[in-house]
Amino acid sequence: MAGYLSSDTRKVTTHRLIEMKQRGEKISMLTSYDYTTAQIVDGAGVDVILVGDSASNVMAGNVTTLPMTLDQMIYHGCSVMRGVKRALVVVDMPFGYYQAAPYDGVQNAIRMMKETGADALKLEGGEEIIETIRRIIGAGVPVMGHLGLMPQSINKYGTYAVRAKDDAEAEKLVNDARLLEEAGCFAVVLEKIPAVLAERVAKELTIPVIGIGAGGGVDGQVLVVADMLGMSKGFSPRFLRRYADLHTIMTDAIGQYVTDVKSGDFPNEQEQY
Ligand code: KIV
Repeated sequence: MAGYLSSDTRKVTTHRLIEMKQRGEKISMLTSYDYTTAQIVDGAGVDVILVGDSASNVMAGNVTTLPMTLDQMIYHGCSVMRGVKRALVVVDMPFGYYQAAPYDGVQNAIRMMKETGADALKLEGGEEIIETIRRIIGAGVPVMGHLGLMPQSINKYGTYAVRAKDDAEAEKLVNDARLLEEAGCFAVVLEKIPAVLAERVAKELTIPVIGIGAGGGVDGQVLVVADMLGMSKGFSPRFLRRYADLHTIMTDAIGQYVTDVKSGDFPNEQEQY
């Protein structure tokens, strides 16, 4: 059987992720936003569970991640934590709670850690928020960085197209990645950038680089769980591999339930008291 049930049941720590990079073992990471999904994802052996602010799109139906509040992320973080035994749980800091000033960022980071019990936080950005990241880490909170396509900045980009294709943006990204490592981040997510650039960053940094749409030359991969399970329809970026078609499976099952209720087939004699 695949997954940790057959092998290593030790809790994943930030330190163990760095060891995995050192011995060339790829890191698996998936999102979860609720208890039931987190139990399945953890039980299947995923190393890192991200309580992503993509909950805004996936759970709440928003067009962007920007509307997420601190309270909402804390709610999702608590739900996931109740379902996880082994994976390292990282919670996204939502838009507007760390960009303005380091003091606010530290206060909000501490509140998130206290109330969720999560292992770490993820913040989007490089040089612009480096002082905030330093202080959050200084307060004892492990931080995962996030560069490349940063969905919280979608209104600045105006498009979800591949980032860092030109030299200037690529050099800034490399510099930002170095700054994140120097500041003490334990890992960095690179989203939707050329594979060659992502591989260069992964080779240069000693901390793990986790890619989404960043090719295979990095230290691990992350996907949004609803996308890789095929629950979402109409979102088919090139980097997405669908491992199931849950949309069809769930629609068929629910359709059968409707038919059974309408026909009186459900419940039968064994399904009542
Ligand atoms: O919020 C999220 O799901 C993310 C991943 C896409 C990395 O940040």
